[in-house]
Amino acid sequence: MSQTTARARACANIALAKYWGKADERLNLTIVPSLSLTLDGLLTTTRVTFDSALTADEAELDGARLGGRPLARITALLGRVRELAKVTTHARVESTNDFPTASGLASSASGFAALAAASSAALGLGLSLAEQSSLARSASASAARSVFGGYVALPARAEAAEPVASGDVLPITMLVAVTAEGPKGTTSTDGMTHTQSTSPYFSACVEQAPKLYTESRRAIWAGDLEALGAAAEQSALMMHASMFAANPGLIYFAPATLRVIERVRALRRAGTLAYFTIDAGPHVKVLSRPQDAVRVEELLAQTEGVMRVIRSQPGPGVELSP
Ligand code: PMV
Repeated sequence: MSQTTARARACANIALAKYWGKADERLNLTIVPSLSLTLDGLLTTTRVTFDSALTADEAELDGARLGGRPLARITALLGRVRELAKVTTHARVESTNDFPTASGLASSASGFAALAAASSAALGLGLSLAEQSSLARSASASAARSVFGGYVALPARAEAAEPVASGDVLPITMLVAVTAEGPKGTTSTDGMTHTQSTSPYFSACVEQAPKLYTESRRAIWAGDLEALGAAAEQSALMMHASMFAANPGLIYFAPATLRVIERVRALRRAGTLAYFTIDAGPHVKVLSRPQDAVRVEELLAQTEGVMRVIRSQPGPGVELSP
């Protein structure tokens, strides 16, 4: 073999019922079940070329060469693919995001889902979607969910995510209010290890998570945005409360994060259905009905500290592309 190549596209996903913490750090299994929506507005495209002329794996993201920990995580996933294909050839990984990479928006989910699909296809492995999801999960648990489109679940301690429902079952427009530029200070991996080992509220979150997960699943199937939104807000705030209570406390919020929360609640008081969720960063993701999205987007964009708003709809699962 001299060169084999494949390219894949994957969308980011936003968890509505969050996971935060590991049941097994080495195997990267999550301690609670999570449920997400895959979004079309945040897309990663990755080409992987296994090339016998290379002496080490190489990776670039949006034209910038990666090293250190980001490269090590990519190499670890490529190592698993090589093991499955019984080859030792190194690879070149070229990845682009259709959203600004330095914005601090989560790109590991779409990135590792695209990497799992492209690298396994480049070596002709013909993996099922569940196997691709398991491969993606070994690098980043949230990436397991980006392999599938629409609403997706990753049960506690599961190897792979599973599709729950198509996005049409409960149509949502997700508005991402970007409140800061630049990469975040604490990675989600470090943040969750720290919370799990020092926060007295962590065990309460683990105890409550299955209930919120079940409520979210039920709300999706009932087409009930109010119930889904209520569960999503509680899941996000509970996760952040456990971080606040860590020692030292971990705060991902920026001042504008709270302003957007307040704006969303004011919208609701005025009769518009809008609900927020927040990941390990300062941005606020707002769930709204498609017919209200333009108005909600305008109000979010006018909120002090909001730099821009990214609008997305439910998106597809991972796809190979020419
Ligand atoms: O698996 P990671 O390292 O991408 O962590 C994801 C953590 C959250 O986004 C905060 C929650 C989630 O379930 O996606």
